[in-house]
Amino acid sequence: MSNKSWEVGFHLRSPRNWLNDPNGLCQFRGRYYFFYQYDHDWPTVDQKAWGLFSSPDLVHWSYLGVPLEPSIAEDRHGVFSGSAIVEPGAGRLGEDLLRIYYTGNVVDPAPGHSPKDFDYVYAGREQNTITCLAERVDGSHTGQLRMGHKQVLLRNSDYPADLSCHVRDPKVWEQDGKRRMLLGARHKDTRGLCLLYDSEDGIAWTYRHAIESEYPFGFVWECPNIVRLDGREYLAISPQGLPRLSDRWFNRWTPGYFELPAGQRVIDTEVIDERSFVQWDYGHDFYAPQTFVDDAGRTILVGWMGTFDDHYTSVPDGLDWWHCMTVPRVVTRRTDGRLLQSPAPELDALRGEAQALEGTATVNGRGADIVLPTVEGTGTLTLDDSFQVFFEGGRLGIRYLDEAAAAGRQDRSIPLNVLDNLRVLVDGSAVEVFANDGAEVFASRWFCPEKESLAIANTFAQSGSIWSMEDVMGKEYAYAREMGLAPDLAMPGWNETIPH
Ligand code: FRU
Repeated sequence: MSNKSWEVGFHLRSPRNWLNDPNGLCQFRGRYYFFYQYDHDWPTVDQKAWGLFSSPDLVHWSYLGVPLEPSIAEDRHGVFSGSAIVEPGAGRLGEDLLRIYYTGNVVDPAPGHSPKDFDYVYAGREQNTITCLAERVDGSHTGQLRMGHKQVLLRNSDYPADLSCHVRDPKVWEQDGKRRMLLGARHKDTRGLCLLYDSEDGIAWTYRHAIESEYPFGFVWECPNIVRLDGREYLAISPQGLPRLSDRWFNRWTPGYFELPAGQRVIDTEVIDERSFVQWDYGHDFYAPQTFVDDAGRTILVGWMGTFDDHYTSVPDGLDWWHCMTVPRVVTRRTDGRLLQSPAPELDALRGEAQALEGTATVNGRGADIVLPTVEGTGTLTLDDSFQVFFEGGRLGIRYLDEAAAAGRQDRSIPLNVLDNLRVLVDGSAVEVFANDGAEVFASRWFCPEKESLAIANTFAQSGSIWSMEDVMGKEYAYAREMGLAPDLAMPGWNETIPH
């Protein structure tokens, strides 16, 4: 049975059905746009489209439906992940337009072949790089977009010959007067890598080179990103197939970043030292994060609060939506190169009255922001006797005190010498833990008990503060369903032919 307390109130989720990667994150004509991988026919068919939210302030979001769906031969089995970039002054009246880049996925047995003839890795799959423009619909107070026609830019035959069919997730940005593009890929000899392209106009792309690790590091790299902060550059990737180690890479799919040596740029890099890989997040439910730079110049990261790891993706009964995004996290660089992630300060607007947190405290509702501004020594923060954040025995971690609430998730922890501060965002079944100013982060789902309030017990010697968090999104999700904005119509089947 579904449980009301599993609802999220300030995390973005699809009003119905499935969500995975954040896509096309941007600020466009003042508003924030967050697209996401959406699946109409979840859980039966895997055919992706892009759902959309928009917000003036990163907190109050309008759901804008599913503006990008499979509609041409080159994307007929899925509009896969990608990014967006503003085209300044490209509109009829000189207004800015948005240019979207994504991967059109095709898995089609050729005539006379059965699906069994293909492995979809080395044969039987196309991954096309496609673009389209989007304009803001005049007068729409939610910032609705109208999408232009799709244009295929690159096909598998255009990619280097030593690749498998897996080449996807274009990340486009501008640097040194050119448009640059990273694609994630899988080499024929089963290792992950990125491809780098550049372009004068964003339409005609020239291949420059691959970016590879010295030694194989995962079998595919997905969703590449670039982060540029304080004069340093980082390549971020979502590699699949890292071996699970005792202290990190707990998931088979573990996103993270490489800091490049001082003075080195991503666009000049061909080989990366994979030993410099730093994981973004140690939680159970975190994959395919995307970053973007907003109008204020902040680097913001949003992750998919989910994963394809199979031992705990089973959906609790009664939920007809699955997975959510993390809150927007502002990324900054610590002087030693570590990237820090902290919840966008705009979220503070959702806080109710502050309460002191010494021993125990209770907040009304299921959303809370818990802050221990200084921590010395060991201790635990326990939510409803069911979920615990701990710093003990030189390890920082999370544990489930109640098996049902874990839904298959095992306790996990990382070695940590000193814990200086701790912040925990609780939003129904979504928990994000930020330690040491966001140097260590855990995003995990918690299938919490059904209750109207949340009890927190603090055994650290230091007190902190706790705020209840407003449920700002509940009404929007209900509205989207009521208005039929959350489409659940069947999409064309896998073998249907869609006209150009
Ligand atoms: C990452 C990913 C991407 C792909 C998308 C499909 O989670 O596998 O590489 O574009 O999901 O939904």
